[in-house]
Amino acid sequence: MKLHFVFHFIFLVLTMLSMVLLLAGCANDQDLQPLQLSDYPEHEIAAAKLYISKCSGCHAAPLPKIHTAGQWPGVVQRMEMRMNNKAIKPPSSQETAVIVGYLQKHASN
Ligand code: HEC
Repeated sequence: MKLHFVFHFIFLVLTMLSMVLLLAGCANDQDLQPLQLSDYPEHEIAAAKLYISKCSGCHAAPLPKIHTAGQWPGVVQRMEMRMNNKAIKPPSSQETAVIVGYLQKHASN
């Protein structure tokens, strides 16, 4: 009877331990998700926030480094055409300038 209780206790401790490990594993998985706010350069400034808010409607806003400064204006222009096609209000020309400026500042060379 007593031995049974000891085994039961050990089983309980092991279950709890594996749950803690499982939770710790989940926390690590989150670090592997490619696009967290903190992955974006200067994510605390207004331009970054404007960019993420205007460019994550259809897909995750890509990181600025995936294109060169020379490529970004054309990509943004194409995206605004896509927004027009979907009847999504594109950024104003002033907002577009801020977004392109942010992307170019952090673009690849
Ligand atoms: C109306 C939906 C929509 C919005 C909003 C949108 N995109 Fe896209 N995006 C697409 C589609 C569809 C594709 C795939 C086809 C293509 O590349 O044109 C795409 C692909 C991309 C790609 C990968 C292709 C490439 O040329 O590198 C980038 C980068 C991109 N978008 C950037 C942006 C940026 C920057 C914004 C904000 C100005 C934005 N997107 C907003 C629909 C959208």
